[in-house]
Amino acid sequence: MSNYHIKHLEEYYQVYRKSIREPESFWEEIAEEHFIWRKKWDKVLEWDFSKPEIKWFQGAKLNITENCIDRHLATRGDKTAILFEPNNPDEAAEHITYNQLYKRVNQFANVLKEQGIQKGDRVCIYVPMIPELAIATLACARIGAIHSVVFAGFSATALATRINDSDCKMVITADGSYRGSKTIDLKGIVDEALENCGCVETVLVAKRIQSNISMKSDRDKWLQPLLDNASDVCEAEIMNAEDPLFILYTSGSTGTPKGMVHTTAGYMVYAAYTFKNAFQYRENDVYWCTADIGWITGHSYIVYGPLANGATTVMFEGVPSYPDFGRFWQIVEKHKVNQFYTAPTAIRALAKQGTELVDKYDLSSLKVLGSVGEPINEEAWHWYNDNVGKKKSPIIDSWWQTETGGIMITPIPYVTPTKPTYATLPFIGIQPALMDENGQELKGNQVEGRLCIKFPWPSIARTIWGNHQRYKETYFSAFENNYFTGDGALRDEVGYYRITGRVDDVIIVSGHNLGTAPIEDAINEHPAIAESAIVGFPHEIKGSALYGYITLKDAGEYRNHDNLKKEINQLIADRIGPIAKLDKIQFSEGLPKTRSGKIMRRILRKIAANEMDNLGDTSTLLNPEVVQSIIDNRL
Ligand code: WT7
Repeated sequence: MSNYHIKHLEEYYQVYRKSIREPESFWEEIAEEHFIWRKKWDKVLEWDFSKPEIKWFQGAKLNITENCIDRHLATRGDKTAILFEPNNPDEAAEHITYNQLYKRVNQFANVLKEQGIQKGDRVCIYVPMIPELAIATLACARIGAIHSVVFAGFSATALATRINDSDCKMVITADGSYRGSKTIDLKGIVDEALENCGCVETVLVAKRIQSNISMKSDRDKWLQPLLDNASDVCEAEIMNAEDPLFILYTSGSTGTPKGMVHTTAGYMVYAAYTFKNAFQYRENDVYWCTADIGWITGHSYIVYGPLANGATTVMFEGVPSYPDFGRFWQIVEKHKVNQFYTAPTAIRALAKQGTELVDKYDLSSLKVLGSVGEPINEEAWHWYNDNVGKKKSPIIDSWWQTETGGIMITPIPYVTPTKPTYATLPFIGIQPALMDENGQELKGNQVEGRLCIKFPWPSIARTIWGNHQRYKETYFSAFENNYFTGDGALRDEVGYYRITGRVDDVIIVSGHNLGTAPIEDAINEHPAIAESAIVGFPHEIKGSALYGYITLKDAGEYRNHDNLKKEINQLIADRIGPIAKLDKIQFSEGLPKTRSGKIMRRILRKIAANEMDNLGDTSTLLNPEVVQSIIDNRL
């Protein structure tokens, strides 16, 4: 298994150098040895960042589900593929073996076909973290339908926008979902969304909370009876390497969410290879990523990466605080989890509860701890290292994005020495570059700049659904011939990378990527509001939280500011989702603007962060006087 499992630092450098010097033969070898193909490629890579156009393994034919399921049946048929841990700890966990997964995915795939879904059709999956979510995703891939999983915490409006953007023919959902002590009426949200979606012909409904919901007779169908009548054998659709596998929406700094398109072969190869190495997964390990499959982390590191390696992957339906803040650790003990992958925001929330609930459980099975989604602060890093890993399990602070499809900068556990708050070294095949403001690459170490990637890797998103121009402008225009990540980073004296945060108007709240513009648009819908500006500010648990500066059309008219604040947050919850609610809302008589009328978010950001001593020169503003009044009324 040459190069597939990196075992020590020298080997990392050796393999890394090879992957950079000869990327094509490097990836060809990985693809050749570790996957099954219906037909091999004619060409490994063709690319041009100026168009931009990227094609990996052109000419190859495959189906990703044959790689994730079928090929394991002979050797791992009775091994648990998906280990489902329900929201309620008293409900039994479900072990779905590879044999069972094969049958369930095939049945589901046959149902999709019966319902008229064909290769290339878009299917929206709005399902909570129950096995049907993973199975529906794989069933789409089985027949070549393009899945668009929408996180089941998004509002009806956000769901409708995503369904319409990619013209989904079908929505798969559930009657409801459990989240801690609450239940959520998912089907009701879907019904509301579909009032504005002409493209959807069929809604398949999985039963989870046994609620009495209304079914629209010509459109809505219960899933289970259809599955019961479907054959459990479904020939896999043979896909081209560059056929789209899925669309996944991510927020941009402006405008509508971007439907990132990932294609089949390159995505599969990179998700699988990174999974194996970044988590040092060994046969019979139990791996658990706490993310939701509605995010890229779940796509690559709950579903595709683990299953492509024949792993056991845990799917957890619930939340870290239910029935108490020991739940994660209880699950680690119960299932003897070996690799645990979570987000800094969860670590901070759990750290706040002290160590009693961690110490209560036997965490000795843990070998690798992962962090993803936002920079992990030093305090959280140490808490995780000391109390969860007992200083024995390396922490991999893995940096990547929806757009990158897989982990890009990360320590390899037991290989790369870790350093708190540093994502450390580029993964195999990844060529980062730091750029200065003039677009020049900063060479050497001890430099800080904007983080770009110079050379394509197999799982880079190929386009934005329906808007290739926007793809080009967003990622390939700031720095010529480079993919621009939107993040800032520094490289220390030994070449380790530390991500310093977004350099655009994207704010990461509790690991969720939020664009300011859509939130401002939602707020501005309120009849009392003239203008708004959203910035992030440091928050103990969430990393960043949202601070809204709002001007009213007629300040005299709306005296009940508390009510107004509630209405604003309700509007945001309706339009985007509760995750985008503002923590602080300050009403002000104006917003600082440049002479051309652009809101100076930089100043507002400093005020929100309580960094008033370096506001910079405000005298050139159109309205310098509002700055003092905003400072005086700061929350
Ligand atoms: C943005 C991408 C990739 C899975 C989840 C997020 C931030 C992600 C880290 C990290 C510092 C990180 C970046 C990135 N981010 N991981 N380890 N250290 N920042 O995917 O929603 O597409 O967000 O998350 O700012 O650009 P996403």
